[in-house]
Amino acid sequence: MKRTAFAAVSSIALIASSAAFAEPQAEVLHWWTSGGEAKSVAVLQKEFADNGGTWTDMPVAGGGGDAAMSALRARVLSGNAPTAVQLKGPAIQEWYEEGVLANISAVAEAEGWADVLPASIAGHMKCEGEWCAAPVNVHRVDWIWANADVLEANGIAMPTTWDEFNAAAAKLQAAGVIPLAHGGQAWQDATVFEAVALGILGAEGFHKAFVELDEATLTSDAMVAVFDQMRTMRGYVDANFSGRDWNLATAMVMNGEAAFQIMGDWAKGEFMAAGKVPGEDFLCASTPGEGFLYNVDSFAMFDVDGDDKKAGQDLLAKLIVGPSFQEVFNLNKGSIPARTDVALDKFDTCAHLSADDMKASSENGSLLPSYAHGMALRGAQSGAITDVVTAHFNSDMSSADAVAQLAQAVASSY
Ligand code: GAL
Repeated sequence: MKRTAFAAVSSIALIASSAAFAEPQAEVLHWWTSGGEAKSVAVLQKEFADNGGTWTDMPVAGGGGDAAMSALRARVLSGNAPTAVQLKGPAIQEWYEEGVLANISAVAEAEGWADVLPASIAGHMKCEGEWCAAPVNVHRVDWIWANADVLEANGIAMPTTWDEFNAAAAKLQAAGVIPLAHGGQAWQDATVFEAVALGILGAEGFHKAFVELDEATLTSDAMVAVFDQMRTMRGYVDANFSGRDWNLATAMVMNGEAAFQIMGDWAKGEFMAAGKVPGEDFLCASTPGEGFLYNVDSFAMFDVDGDDKKAGQDLLAKLIVGPSFQEVFNLNKGSIPARTDVALDKFDTCAHLSADDMKASSENGSLLPSYAHGMALRGAQSGAITDVVTAHFNSDMSSADAVAQLAQAVASSY
Protein backbone atom coordinates (compact mmCIF):
# COMPACT_ATOMS: atom_id res chain seq x y z
CA MET A 1 0.00 0.00 0.00
CA LYS A 2 2.72 2.40 1.08
CA ARG A 3 4.91 1.46 -1.89
CA THR A 4 2.10 2.18 -4.34
CA ALA A 5 1.45 5.59 -2.81
CA PHE A 6 5.14 6.40 -2.97
CA ALA A 7 5.39 5.25 -6.58
CA ALA A 8 2.48 7.51 -7.46
CA VAL A 9 4.10 10.47 -5.73
CA SER A 10 7.46 9.98 -7.38
CA SER A 11 5.92 9.67 -10.84
CA ILE A 12 4.05 12.96 -10.25
CA ALA A 13 7.35 14.54 -9.25
CA LEU A 14 8.90 13.21 -12.45
CA ILE A 15 6.11 14.62 -14.59
CA ALA A 16 6.39 17.95 -12.83
CA SER A 17 10.12 18.14 -13.34
CA SER A 18 9.99 17.15 -17.01
CA ALA A 19 7.28 19.81 -17.53
CA ALA A 20 9.61 22.31 -15.93
CA PHE A 21 12.29 21.54 -18.56
CA ALA A 22 9.96 21.37 -21.55
CA GLU A 23 9.92 24.34 -23.92
CA PRO A 24 6.81 26.36 -23.14
CA GLN A 25 4.22 26.40 -25.92
CA ALA A 26 0.86 28.11 -25.97
CA GLU A 27 -1.91 28.49 -28.46
CA VAL A 28 -3.84 31.48 -27.18
CA LEU A 29 -7.43 32.24 -28.14
CA HIS A 30 -8.45 35.88 -27.66
CA TRP A 31 -10.51 38.64 -29.26
CA TRP A 32 -8.06 41.50 -28.98
CA THR A 33 -7.83 42.65 -32.59
CA SER A 34 -8.51 46.43 -32.55
CA GLY A 35 -5.58 48.89 -32.57
CA GLY A 36 -5.34 49.33 -28.80
CA GLU A 37 -6.14 45.69 -28.08
CA ALA A 38 -3.53 44.37 -30.52
CA LYS A 39 -0.86 46.61 -28.97
CA SER A 40 -1.78 45.23 -25.57
CA VAL A 41 -1.74 41.57 -26.46
CA ALA A 42 1.64 42.13 -28.15
CA VAL A 43 3.01 42.96 -24.69
CA LEU A 44 2.07 39.48 -23.49
CA GLN A 45 3.42 37.82 -26.63
CA LYS A 46 6.75 39.57 -26.14
CA GLU A 47 7.05 38.67 -22.45
CA PHE A 48 6.19 35.06 -23.29
CA ALA A 49 8.83 34.94 -26.04
CA ASP A 50 11.42 36.69 -23.83
CA ASN A 51 10.92 33.91 -21.32
CA GLY A 52 11.49 31.14 -23.85
CA GLY A 53 7.88 30.55 -24.87
CA THR A 54 6.50 29.90 -28.35
CA TRP A 55 3.16 31.62 -28.90
CA THR A 56 0.63 30.47 -31.49
CA ASP A 57 -1.89 33.24 -31.97
CA MET A 58 -5.58 32.43 -32.35
CA PRO A 59 -7.33 35.80 -32.60
CA VAL A 60 -11.06 35.76 -33.26
CA ALA A 61 -12.22 39.26 -34.19
CA GLY A 62 -15.40 40.63 -32.68
CA GLY A 63 -15.71 43.07 -29.78
CA GLY A 64 -17.09 41.68 -26.57
CA GLY A 65 -15.94 38.18 -27.52
CA ASP A 66 -19.14 36.52 -28.77
CA ALA A 67 -17.43 35.13 -31.88
CA ALA A 68 -14.42 34.03 -29.82
CA MET A 69 -16.68 32.09 -27.46
CA SER A 70 -18.35 30.29 -30.39
CA ALA A 71 -14.92 29.38 -31.74
CA LEU A 72 -13.94 28.09 -28.31
CA ARG A 73 -17.00 25.86 -28.06
CA ALA A 74 -16.29 24.36 -31.49
CA ARG A 75 -12.68 23.62 -30.51
CA VAL A 76 -13.56 22.02 -27.20
CA LEU A 77 -16.35 19.94 -28.75
CA SER A 78 -13.92 18.60 -31.34
CA GLY A 79 -11.59 17.54 -28.52
CA ASN A 80 -8.90 20.05 -29.44
CA ALA A 81 -9.04 22.83 -26.85
CA PRO A 82 -6.60 25.75 -27.14
CA THR A 83 -3.94 25.95 -24.44
CA ALA A 84 -5.05 29.28 -23.02
CA VAL A 85 -8.25 31.21 -23.55
CA GLN A 86 -9.43 34.74 -22.81
CA LEU A 87 -12.37 33.87 -20.58
CA LYS A 88 -14.07 35.74 -17.79
CA GLY A 89 -16.78 35.93 -15.17
CA PRO A 90 -19.13 33.01 -14.51
CA ALA A 91 -18.18 31.48 -17.90
CA ILE A 92 -15.01 30.34 -16.13
CA GLN A 93 -17.02 28.28 -13.67
CA GLU A 94 -19.34 27.08 -16.45
CA TRP A 95 -16.36 25.64 -18.34
CA TYR A 96 -14.93 24.22 -15.14
CA GLU A 97 -18.18 22.35 -14.58
CA GLU A 98 -17.72 20.76 -18.01
CA GLY A 99 -14.48 19.28 -16.64
CA VAL A 100 -12.17 20.87 -19.20
CA LEU A 101 -10.19 23.47 -17.23
CA ALA A 102 -6.72 23.00 -15.78
CA ASN A 103 -5.97 23.72 -12.15
CA ILE A 104 -3.39 26.52 -11.85
CA SER A 105 -3.24 26.63 -8.05
CA ALA A 106 0.42 25.59 -7.97
CA VAL A 107 1.43 28.75 -9.89
CA ALA A 108 -0.99 30.95 -7.95
CA GLU A 109 0.37 29.75 -4.63
CA ALA A 110 4.01 29.99 -5.67
CA GLU A 111 3.39 33.56 -6.87
CA GLY A 112 1.33 34.59 -3.83
CA TRP A 113 -1.73 35.74 -5.83
CA ALA A 114 -3.94 35.69 -2.73
CA ASP A 115 -1.82 38.49 -1.23
CA VAL A 116 -1.88 40.83 -4.22
CA LEU A 117 -5.40 40.45 -5.66
CA PRO A 118 -8.53 42.00 -4.15
CA ALA A 119 -10.95 39.37 -2.83
CA SER A 120 -13.65 40.53 -5.27
CA ILE A 121 -11.37 39.68 -8.21
CA ALA A 122 -9.86 36.53 -6.71
CA GLY A 123 -13.38 35.11 -6.24
CA HIS A 124 -13.95 35.12 -10.00
CA MET A 125 -10.69 33.21 -10.57
CA LYS A 126 -11.57 30.22 -8.38
CA CYS A 127 -13.42 27.01 -9.05
CA GLU A 128 -14.34 24.98 -5.99
CA GLY A 129 -11.55 26.60 -4.03
CA GLU A 130 -8.83 26.04 -6.67
CA TRP A 131 -7.39 28.75 -8.91
CA CYS A 132 -8.71 28.23 -12.45
CA ALA A 133 -8.04 31.60 -14.14
CA ALA A 134 -5.48 34.40 -14.09
CA PRO A 135 -6.70 38.04 -14.05
CA VAL A 136 -5.21 40.58 -16.41
CA ASN A 137 -6.86 43.87 -15.48
CA VAL A 138 -9.87 45.80 -14.29
CA HIS A 139 -11.83 47.50 -17.03
CA ARG A 140 -14.54 49.93 -16.02
CA VAL A 141 -17.63 49.82 -18.22
CA ASP A 142 -19.65 52.88 -17.13
CA TRP A 143 -17.65 55.54 -18.95
CA ILE A 144 -18.59 58.36 -21.25
CA TRP A 145 -15.92 59.56 -23.70
CA ALA A 146 -16.04 62.87 -25.50
CA ASN A 147 -14.23 64.88 -28.13
CA ALA A 148 -12.87 67.88 -26.16
CA ASP A 149 -12.91 70.33 -29.10
CA VAL A 150 -16.44 69.42 -30.14
CA LEU A 151 -17.75 70.01 -26.62
CA GLU A 152 -15.90 73.30 -26.32
CA ALA A 153 -17.02 74.56 -29.71
CA ASN A 154 -20.63 73.89 -28.70
CA GLY A 155 -20.36 75.24 -25.16
CA ILE A 156 -21.06 71.87 -23.57
CA ALA A 157 -19.67 70.45 -20.32
CA MET A 158 -19.40 66.70 -19.58
CA PRO A 159 -22.93 65.69 -18.50
CA THR A 160 -23.40 64.62 -14.90
CA THR A 161 -27.08 63.60 -15.16
CA TRP A 162 -29.00 61.86 -17.92
CA ASP A 163 -31.09 65.03 -18.35
CA GLU A 164 -27.89 66.98 -18.95
CA PHE A 165 -26.81 64.32 -21.41
CA ASN A 166 -30.09 64.63 -23.30
CA ALA A 167 -29.89 68.43 -23.37
CA ALA A 168 -26.30 68.31 -24.64
CA ALA A 169 -27.22 65.73 -27.27
CA ALA A 170 -30.16 67.81 -28.54
CA LYS A 171 -27.92 70.87 -28.82
CA LEU A 172 -25.23 68.94 -30.69
CA GLN A 173 -27.77 67.43 -33.04
CA ALA A 174 -29.11 70.89 -33.86
CA ALA A 175 -25.52 71.96 -34.62
CA GLY A 176 -25.10 69.05 -37.07
CA VAL A 177 -22.88 66.86 -34.86
CA ILE A 178 -23.75 63.21 -34.23
CA PRO A 179 -24.36 63.22 -30.46
CA LEU A 180 -23.65 59.55 -29.75
CA ALA A 181 -21.21 57.30 -31.62
CA HIS A 182 -22.63 53.83 -31.36
CA GLY A 183 -22.23 50.49 -33.03
CA GLY A 184 -25.45 48.53 -33.35
CA GLN A 185 -24.22 45.17 -32.11
CA ALA A 186 -26.02 43.39 -29.28
CA TRP A 187 -23.14 43.65 -26.81
CA GLN A 188 -22.74 47.39 -27.48
CA ASP A 189 -26.48 47.97 -26.94
CA ALA A 190 -26.12 46.06 -23.67
CA THR A 191 -23.10 48.17 -22.68
CA VAL A 192 -25.05 51.42 -23.06
CA PHE A 193 -28.10 49.88 -21.40
CA GLU A 194 -26.28 48.81 -18.27
CA ALA A 195 -24.66 52.24 -17.86
CA VAL A 196 -28.10 53.85 -18.13
CA ALA A 197 -29.54 51.25 -15.74
CA LEU A 198 -26.85 51.91 -13.14
CA GLY A 199 -27.60 55.64 -13.32
CA ILE A 200 -31.37 55.28 -13.07
CA LEU A 201 -31.77 52.25 -10.79
CA GLY A 202 -28.84 53.09 -8.51
CA ALA A 203 -26.31 50.56 -7.27
CA GLU A 204 -28.77 48.61 -5.14
CA GLY A 205 -31.35 48.47 -7.92
CA PHE A 206 -28.69 47.37 -10.40
CA HIS A 207 -27.66 44.55 -8.08
CA LYS A 208 -31.24 43.45 -7.61
CA ALA A 209 -31.94 43.50 -11.34
CA PHE A 210 -28.76 42.08 -12.87
CA VAL A 211 -27.21 39.99 -10.12
CA GLU A 212 -30.24 38.74 -8.21
CA LEU A 213 -32.62 38.87 -11.21
CA ASP A 214 -35.32 40.16 -8.86
CA GLU A 215 -38.62 40.19 -10.75
CA ALA A 216 -40.04 43.23 -8.96
CA THR A 217 -37.01 45.30 -9.98
CA LEU A 218 -37.00 43.96 -13.53
CA THR A 219 -40.62 45.10 -13.94
CA SER A 220 -40.38 48.32 -11.88
CA ASP A 221 -41.23 51.85 -13.03
CA ALA A 222 -37.53 52.63 -12.74
CA MET A 223 -36.81 49.91 -15.33
CA VAL A 224 -39.46 51.46 -17.59
CA ALA A 225 -37.53 54.73 -17.23
CA VAL A 226 -34.32 52.94 -18.25
CA PHE A 227 -35.95 51.79 -21.51
CA ASP A 228 -37.38 55.32 -22.02
CA GLN A 229 -33.86 56.71 -21.84
CA MET A 230 -32.66 54.04 -24.30
CA ARG A 231 -35.41 55.12 -26.70
CA THR A 232 -34.31 58.76 -26.33
CA MET A 233 -30.71 57.74 -27.04
CA ARG A 234 -31.73 55.79 -30.12
CA GLY A 235 -32.60 59.21 -31.53
CA TYR A 236 -29.04 60.44 -30.96
CA VAL A 237 -27.17 57.84 -33.03
CA ASP A 238 -26.55 58.25 -36.75
CA ALA A 239 -28.40 56.36 -39.47
CA ASN A 240 -25.46 54.03 -40.20
CA PHE A 241 -24.99 52.68 -36.69
CA SER A 242 -26.17 49.15 -37.42
CA GLY A 243 -23.40 46.54 -37.14
CA ARG A 244 -20.61 49.09 -36.69
CA ASP A 245 -17.60 47.88 -34.68
CA TRP A 246 -17.00 49.66 -31.37
CA ASN A 247 -13.55 50.93 -32.35
CA LEU A 248 -15.00 52.59 -35.45
CA ALA A 249 -17.45 54.36 -33.16
CA THR A 250 -14.47 55.48 -31.05
CA ALA A 251 -12.82 56.78 -34.22
CA MET A 252 -15.92 58.93 -34.90
CA VAL A 253 -15.36 60.65 -31.55
CA MET A 254 -11.64 61.00 -32.28
CA ASN A 255 -12.19 62.72 -35.60
CA GLY A 256 -14.97 64.97 -34.35
CA GLU A 257 -17.75 63.39 -36.38
CA ALA A 258 -19.48 62.49 -33.12
CA ALA A 259 -19.33 64.00 -29.64
CA PHE A 260 -19.77 61.12 -27.18
CA GLN A 261 -19.36 57.38 -26.86
CA ILE A 262 -20.53 55.25 -23.94
CA MET A 263 -18.09 52.37 -23.76
CA GLY A 264 -15.69 50.62 -21.38
CA ASP A 265 -12.17 51.95 -21.08
CA TRP A 266 -10.82 49.71 -23.83
CA ALA A 267 -11.98 52.78 -25.83
CA LYS A 268 -9.22 54.70 -24.06
CA GLY A 269 -6.79 52.12 -25.45
CA GLU A 270 -7.92 53.20 -28.93
CA PHE A 271 -7.48 56.92 -28.19
CA MET A 272 -4.02 56.26 -26.76
CA ALA A 273 -2.96 54.01 -29.65
CA ALA A 274 -3.87 56.91 -31.96
CA GLY A 275 -1.66 59.28 -29.92
CA LYS A 276 -4.56 61.21 -28.37
CA VAL A 277 -4.10 62.83 -24.99
CA PRO A 278 -6.69 62.57 -22.21
CA GLY A 279 -7.87 65.94 -20.94
CA GLU A 280 -6.72 67.60 -24.19
CA ASP A 281 -8.02 65.66 -27.16
CA PHE A 282 -10.59 63.57 -25.38
CA LEU A 283 -12.39 63.65 -22.05
CA CYS A 284 -13.42 60.82 -19.77
CA ALA A 285 -16.05 60.76 -17.05
CA SER A 286 -18.15 58.11 -15.39
CA THR A 287 -21.66 57.92 -16.80
CA PRO A 288 -24.29 59.76 -14.74
CA GLY A 289 -25.05 58.08 -11.40
CA GLU A 290 -23.20 56.38 -8.57
CA GLY A 291 -21.30 53.13 -8.76
CA PHE A 292 -18.65 51.27 -10.72
CA LEU A 293 -19.26 48.45 -13.20
CA TYR A 294 -16.20 46.25 -13.37
CA ASN A 295 -15.13 43.92 -16.14
CA VAL A 296 -12.07 41.83 -15.34
CA ASP A 297 -10.32 40.17 -18.28
CA SER A 298 -8.70 36.87 -17.45
CA PHE A 299 -7.23 33.76 -19.02
CA ALA A 300 -8.17 30.19 -18.25
CA MET A 301 -6.02 27.21 -19.16
CA PHE A 302 -7.68 24.22 -20.77
CA ASP A 303 -6.79 20.63 -20.06
CA VAL A 304 -4.27 19.70 -22.73
CA ASP A 305 -1.68 16.96 -23.19
CA GLY A 306 2.04 17.56 -23.49
CA ASP A 307 4.69 18.87 -21.12
CA ASP A 308 5.49 21.76 -23.45
CA LYS A 309 1.88 22.96 -23.34
CA LYS A 310 1.63 22.54 -19.58
CA ALA A 311 4.88 24.48 -19.20
CA GLY A 312 3.37 27.14 -21.48
CA GLN A 313 0.29 27.38 -19.26
CA ASP A 314 2.38 27.75 -16.11
CA LEU A 315 4.57 30.41 -17.69
CA LEU A 316 1.61 32.35 -19.09
CA ALA A 317 -0.25 32.31 -15.79
CA LYS A 318 2.84 33.50 -13.96
CA LEU A 319 3.55 36.33 -16.42
CA ILE A 320 -0.06 37.52 -16.61
CA VAL A 321 -0.27 38.27 -12.91
CA GLY A 322 3.36 39.44 -12.70
CA PRO A 323 3.83 43.12 -11.77
CA SER A 324 5.73 44.25 -14.87
CA PHE A 325 3.19 42.80 -17.28
CA GLN A 326 0.29 44.23 -15.29
CA GLU A 327 1.78 47.70 -15.62
CA VAL A 328 2.76 47.70 -19.30
CA PHE A 329 -0.27 45.81 -20.55
CA ASN A 330 -2.74 48.06 -18.76
CA LEU A 331 -1.00 51.24 -19.89
CA ASN A 332 -1.88 50.11 -23.41
CA LYS A 333 -5.25 48.53 -22.77
CA GLY A 334 -6.97 51.45 -21.03
CA SER A 335 -7.67 49.39 -17.90
CA ILE A 336 -5.98 49.38 -14.50
CA PRO A 337 -3.95 46.53 -13.00
CA ALA A 338 -5.78 43.76 -11.15
CA ARG A 339 -2.90 43.64 -8.64
CA THR A 340 -3.15 46.13 -5.84
CA ASP A 341 0.62 46.61 -5.48
CA VAL A 342 1.39 48.10 -8.91
CA ALA A 343 2.21 51.83 -8.71
CA LEU A 344 0.02 54.00 -10.94
CA ASP A 345 2.60 56.79 -11.49
CA LYS A 346 2.76 56.17 -15.22
CA PHE A 347 -1.01 56.02 -15.63
CA ASP A 348 -3.19 58.92 -16.85
CA THR A 349 -5.97 60.85 -15.15
CA CYS A 350 -8.73 58.52 -16.41
CA ALA A 351 -6.95 55.51 -14.89
CA HIS A 352 -6.52 57.39 -11.61
CA LEU A 353 -10.21 58.25 -11.59
CA SER A 354 -10.98 54.58 -12.19
CA ALA A 355 -8.72 53.40 -9.35
CA ASP A 356 -10.11 56.00 -6.91
CA ASP A 357 -13.72 55.26 -7.82
CA MET A 358 -13.13 51.53 -7.59
CA LYS A 359 -11.79 51.91 -4.07
CA ALA A 360 -14.62 54.21 -2.99
CA SER A 361 -17.30 52.02 -4.56
CA SER A 362 -15.86 48.91 -2.98
CA GLU A 363 -16.08 50.65 0.40
CA ASN A 364 -19.66 51.89 -0.04
CA GLY A 365 -21.10 48.76 -1.65
CA SER A 366 -21.53 50.13 -5.18
CA LEU A 367 -18.77 48.07 -6.86
CA LEU A 368 -20.78 45.91 -9.25
CA PRO A 369 -20.08 43.25 -11.87
CA SER A 370 -20.89 44.19 -15.46
CA TYR A 371 -23.77 42.11 -16.81
CA ALA A 372 -23.07 43.21 -20.41
CA HIS A 373 -19.50 41.92 -20.21
CA GLY A 374 -20.27 38.57 -18.67
CA MET A 375 -19.25 39.29 -15.08
CA ALA A 376 -22.62 39.12 -13.33
CA LEU A 377 -24.61 36.26 -14.79
CA ARG A 378 -24.30 32.97 -16.57
CA GLY A 379 -24.57 33.03 -20.34
CA ALA A 380 -28.22 31.94 -20.61
CA GLN A 381 -29.44 34.72 -18.31
CA SER A 382 -27.30 37.55 -19.66
CA GLY A 383 -28.15 36.45 -23.21
CA ALA A 384 -31.88 36.54 -22.42
CA ILE A 385 -31.60 40.13 -21.14
CA THR A 386 -29.49 41.32 -24.05
CA ASP A 387 -31.95 39.88 -26.58
CA VAL A 388 -34.69 42.11 -25.15
CA VAL A 389 -32.44 45.17 -24.92
CA THR A 390 -31.46 44.80 -28.57
CA ALA A 391 -34.97 44.03 -29.78
CA HIS A 392 -36.22 47.18 -28.03
CA PHE A 393 -33.40 49.40 -29.32
CA ASN A 394 -33.95 48.27 -32.90
CA SER A 395 -37.74 48.56 -33.07
CA ASP A 396 -40.52 50.78 -31.82
CA MET A 397 -41.29 48.47 -28.89
CA SER A 398 -42.72 50.39 -25.94
CA SER A 399 -40.84 50.51 -22.64
CA ALA A 400 -43.76 48.75 -20.93
CA ASP A 401 -43.56 45.87 -23.42
CA ALA A 402 -39.79 45.70 -23.03
CA VAL A 403 -40.08 45.38 -19.27
CA ALA A 404 -42.70 42.64 -19.57
CA GLN A 405 -40.52 40.76 -22.07
CA LEU A 406 -37.49 41.21 -19.85
CA ALA A 407 -39.11 39.50 -16.88
CA GLN A 408 -40.44 36.72 -19.09
CA ALA A 409 -37.13 36.13 -20.87
CA VAL A 410 -35.27 35.90 -17.57
CA ALA A 411 -37.87 33.54 -16.08
CA SER A 412 -37.63 31.14 -19.01
CA SER A 413 -33.83 31.24 -19.22
CA TYR A 414 -33.20 28.81 -16.36
C1 GAL B 1 -14.61 43.30 -23.52
C2 GAL B 1 -13.24 42.92 -23.03
C3 GAL B 1 -12.30 44.01 -23.30
C4 GAL B 1 -12.39 44.51 -24.72
C5 GAL B 1 -13.83 44.63 -25.22
C6 GAL B 1 -13.97 44.93 -26.69
O1 GAL B 1 -15.54 42.30 -23.24
O2 GAL B 1 -13.31 42.67 -21.66
O3 GAL B 1 -10.99 43.60 -22.99
O4 GAL B 1 -11.65 43.70 -25.50
O5 GAL B 1 -14.56 43.51 -24.92
O6 GAL B 1 -13.46 43.91 -27.49
